[in-house]
Amino acid sequence: ERSDAVPRDLEGVRVVVTAGGTREPLDPVRFLGNRSSGKQGYALARLAAQRGAEVTLIAAASTGLPDPPAVRVERIGTASELQSAVDAAAQDAEVVIMAAAVADFRPATRADAKMKKGAASEPDSVALTRNPDILKGLVTRRGAGGLPATRVIVGFAAETGDADGDALHHGRAKLARKGCDLLVVNTVGDDRTFGLDSNDGWLLSADGSERAIEHGSKSLMSTRILDSVTALLGDGHC
Ligand code: CTP
Ligand code: CA
Repeated sequence: ERSDAVPRDLEGVRVVVTAGGTREPLDPVRFLGNRSSGKQGYALARLAAQRGAEVTLIAAASTGLPDPPAVRVERIGTASELQSAVDAAAQDAEVVIMAAAVADFRPATRADAKMKKGAASEPDSVALTRNPDILKGLVTRRGAGGLPATRVIVGFAAETGDADGDALHHGRAKLARKGCDLLVVNTVGDDRTFGLDSNDGWLLSADGSERAIEHGSKSLMSTRILDSVTALLGDGHC
């Protein structure tokens, strides 16, 4: 796509994008993490800024990607840090896009010193604690009147499909569960999506409409997602 073809249809709109995978420390040198590259979130932040938005990118430390031009970048490590950053940034944002892969669980305790094998304290398992659901928290807070500026909340779902159903089936259930306005569903597994430069999937809306997104670059995927966001903003939705 030619850069001069980018519409300025998000002029002055405040957009928060989260990107990358959170890391949950076990001790000062080890963490539980995931394979999110952050590329989709970065592509969204870059394009939203090109379309005129005032973008805050809340980026997991893991991404190692250069800051996109004209975007305010905040770095976080854990899901809990991500939650604090999102909750603060969402306060005056019209759009929040949760592209980050948030750890569902964290180690229940974090050792102050490096864990040593053979030590008396050597663990044979890792106790885990559930992290808060940040996306669901935003939807709940908006429903209670706590986010008056926020008009569009976008979630992501990376699904492999399983015996209960395919990726789209899981995506539909997730949209209903999360209560967000748009859910971007990606098919993952067997080297699909994570770290790649291309993506495909579906865009599911709370009103029941569904669009397939053709296979293409994460930048093209971003165009489709932001087109749906601007359509919702234009609707006077919420
Ligand atoms: N998410 C979040 N907080 C969490 C977990 C997920 O905000 N603790 C967000 C992600 O950023 C994403 C969406 O919720 O936008 C869906 O994440 P996903 O992991 O697919 O959803 P879960 O409800 O955790 O479901 P699953 O059991 O499939 O992991
Ligand atoms: Ca999850």
